[in-house]
Amino acid sequence: MVDGMDRGKIEALIATRQTGFTLPQPFYFDRAIYAIEIEQIWRTGWLFVAHDCEIPSVGDYLTWDIGDDSILILRDDEGEIRAFHNLCRHRGTRLCSQPQGHVGRIVCPYHQWTYDRSGQLCSARGMEADLNFEEWSLIPVAVATAAGMIYISLADNPPPFDGVGKQIAAAAAPQGLNRAKVACAIDYEIEANWKLVWENNRECYHCNVNHPQYIRANFDHFNEDDTNGAIQTRIAQQLQRNKEHLAATGLTATHQSTGMASFPDPENVDGWCAINRTVLVEDYISETMDGQQVAPLMGDYVDPHVGTLRMRTMPNMWNHSSCDHVVTTRLLPAGPDRTLARVVWLVDQDAVEGRDFTLERLLPFWQLTSEQDWDLCRAAQQGISSRAYRPGPLSTYKEWNVEAFICWYLEQLTPSSES
Ligand code: FES
Ligand code: FE
Repeated sequence: MVDGMDRGKIEALIATRQTGFTLPQPFYFDRAIYAIEIEQIWRTGWLFVAHDCEIPSVGDYLTWDIGDDSILILRDDEGEIRAFHNLCRHRGTRLCSQPQGHVGRIVCPYHQWTYDRSGQLCSARGMEADLNFEEWSLIPVAVATAAGMIYISLADNPPPFDGVGKQIAAAAAPQGLNRAKVACAIDYEIEANWKLVWENNRECYHCNVNHPQYIRANFDHFNEDDTNGAIQTRIAQQLQRNKEHLAATGLTATHQSTGMASFPDPENVDGWCAINRTVLVEDYISETMDGQQVAPLMGDYVDPHVGTLRMRTMPNMWNHSSCDHVVTTRLLPAGPDRTLARVVWLVDQDAVEGRDFTLERLLPFWQLTSEQDWDLCRAAQQGISSRAYRPGPLSTYKEWNVEAFICWYLEQLTPSSES
C-alpha cells in the first residue's frame, strides 16, 4: 500500500517534469511510484495475457503474477477461457505454482480442497458436512477475448471492452490469429523499469546503429527530418504496390503518421489500443533475415505482400505480423527495475515444423532485435540509476512517441484520471 505522503510527493514530482524531457529519476526505480503504477495502471484496465493458442486444450492453463496477485488463466470444459485468483478458498494457499501446465481438477497442495475447471469447489475432505460448496468457489477475474487474444482486468469495475475488442477483431481477422499456433516462446528478464522498455519501443532513433536486421526490412528509421525525397518516393511507391496486392484481400496499408501524434492512436478507444498496417521495404515480404516468406501464409491472406500489421495495447503488448508469422511481446513488471518479457512466435495452425517452417529461419529476426533492445534498456536503467542523471531532451523529429508515451503514463497517475 502507498500512503498519502508518498502520493503527494509523487504529484509534486510530476509537476517538476518538463515537457519534451525524459522523466525525473525516481520514476525509474522508486518503490512507492512502482506501487502506485501497479494500482493505477496495472490494476485498472485490460491487460494482455496470452494468445488463446497458448492454452489450446481443455484444462491447459497459465499463471500470471502482477504485483502481489497471481492469476490462473484456464480453458474450461466448454473450451471457454476463464481466469481466477490463483489461491485456495480454504486458507489462501497458492494453487498452481507453475507458469503453465494442464489440470483435470485444481487440487490445493495444502489440504487438497479440489476445484473443477469452472472454479467450483467440488471436494473438501475433512470439512463439516454442511459446508456450502457454492460459497467457496475460486474468485473470478474478468476475461475478454478478441481475435484470439486474451485480456484480463483486475479492476473491480473493468472498463468496457466490447468497442475496442471489435476494433482489434476487425483489424486482426485477416491475420488469422485465432487459427494460429505457437511455434516458439522465449522468456526474458529485462534489467530495466517497464517504462524504459516502452520508451525504447516507441522510437527508432536507436535503430540505425543497434538493429542491423530490423532496418533492412523496415522504413521506421527514416523519420520526418529525412529530407531525402528519394526515401519518401520509395515509401509512396511501396504503399502503391502494396495497395495493388492488398486489393484482393480488401486491406489497406499506411505509413506511420508524423508530427507530435498523441499516444496511442487517438482514433482508438481511450488511447488504449493502436493498430496499423504498414509496408516493408522492396523485396521484403516478411520480417525475416532475408525478407523471404518462411512459413505458410496465415489467415485470409492470398498474397504475401501484406506489409506488417502492428498492434499494441497498453500497458503490456505489442506485436508485428507478417504474411506468414506473428511475433507478440508481452510485458510484466517484476519490480521497479525489472521487467519480464515473453516473446511468442505464431504460425498458421496447420504449419508443421520441419516441413513448413524451421525455427532457424523463423526466429532470428525478432530474437536478435528483441535482445538488442533489452541490452539498450538495461544500459539505460544503469545510467539513469546514477546520481548524475538528469532528465534529457527528446527529439521532436524522432522521439515524439516517447513524449506521447510519457504523457499517457503521467495521465494515468494524476488524480484527475482517478474515478
Ligand atoms: Fe487449500 Fe487448505 S489451504 S486446502
Ligand atoms: Fe529497438
